[in-house]
Order: sequence, then C-alpha cells, then structure tokens
Amino acid sequence: MENPVEMPTMEIVEADLDCVAHQRAVVELIDAYAADPMGNGRPLAPQVRDNLVDGLRRHPTTLIFLAFQGGRAVGIAVCFLGFSTFHAKPLVNIHDLAVVADCRGRQIGRRLLDAVADKARHLHCCKLTLEVQENNRRARRLYEAAGFAQAQYQEGTGGSLFYAKPL
Ligand SMILES: CC(C)(COP(=O)(O)OP(=O)(O)OC[C@H]1O[C@@H](n2cnc3c(N)ncnc32)[C@H](O)[C@@H]1OP(=O)(O)O)[C@@H](O)C(=O)NCCC(=O)NCCS
Repeated sequence: MENPVEMPTMEIVEADLDCVAHQRAVVELIDAYAADPMGNGRPLAPQVRDNLVDGLRRHPTTLIFLAFQGGRAVGIAVCFLGFSTFHAKPLVNIHDLAVVADCRGRQIGRRLLDAVADKARHLHCCKLTLEVQENNRRARRLYEAAGFAQAQYQEGTGGSLFYAKPL
C-alpha cells in the first residue's frame, strides 16, 4: 500500500524583524496579499516594498505572526497595539491577515488568529479589532467562526462603521 503524502507541519511564530528570513517573509506575504482581489488588487509599489520592514520595525507597537510550513512562509497576521479608554486597557488591532492562495482552507488563518488572541490575553488586552470588506465572505466566515462580530457599543445604536480620510 502506498504511503499517503505527508504534509509538512505548520508552525506559527512571532516575527523577529531583525531576522532576515522573517523580513523576507513579511515583504513577500504582504506583497501577495496586496495583489489579492481581497487586498489592494495590485502588488506593493517598489518604494513600499523597500520601506516596509524598516517602517514596521520603527513603529512602536508592531506585533507580527508568521505561519511557516516546511520552511515556506505561508501566512501572516500584522497587528498593532492600541488602547481602549473605556476599559483603560490595551487592545490588539489585526491590520492584515493573509494566507498564500494555494494553502487556504487548511486552518492556517484560524491558527494565526488564535496565536494573536493568545498573545493579546498575555498582554492583558481587552479586545481584538479588525476591519473586513463587506464582500469578503471567506474572511467574514472565518472571523465570525472565531468569535468576531460587528462592533456595537450600545443597544439600538447600530453597528460601527469604519471611516478613513486619505492624506
Ligand atoms: C481569509 C483568509 C486569511 C482565511 O485563511 P484560511 O487559512 O484559508 O482560513 P482557514 O482555513 O483557517 O478557514 C477557517 C474558516 O474560514 C472559512 N473558510 C475557509 N475556506 C473557505 C471557503 N473556501 N469559503 C468560505 N469560507 C471558508 C470557514 O469558516 C473556515 O472554517 P472551517 O474550515 O471550520 O469551515 C484567506 O482566505 C486569505 O488570505 N484571503 C485573502 C486575503 C484576505 O481576504 N484577508 C482578510 C482580509 S480582512
């Protein structure tokens, strides 16, 4: 009888932005996410690629998790710590969550979210936040299955809307 093809084990690590392999993984994964129709629909501009790691490293609250499978970087969660004035506690905002296209549907996204939640609990955060496009059904299913819901602060006020003003 043939042996079934073994899938290399997947590991999630907190990124060390001084490590060259992690730096490369961050740039490649964010570039692939940017090119995805659910990202920005086009890859990163060359100047953004060049500045990304330095900018993330200099930002005071950067927290990144990487998923590796058999040495290949296959998923990323880029987060930043914020602060809730109503709870006087920190919070973690998940700014990017992405898994490479050929590895989706294998629980990598879920495991990245779980790693972020574990870290946030460890940091005594009161919540995780994120934004998601209305038409991103796959991501919304993942988030809802993981316990996220549209933010609502008081009953009857409706859900929160995410606004942005380009500068
Ligand atoms: C969204 C994304 C990160 C999910 O990662 P993933 O590793 O494929 O997700 P998982 O395998 O952990 O799936 C977890 C849940 O997502 C949902 N899901 C997974 N594949 C799905 C599919 N093909 N269709 C609909 N829902 C799906 C399911 O609820 C699934 O739970 P289940 O396996 O118990 O049914 C990934 O699809 C991705 O990178 N998409 C492009 C970038 C993006 O949209 N990022 C989010 C921006 S807000």
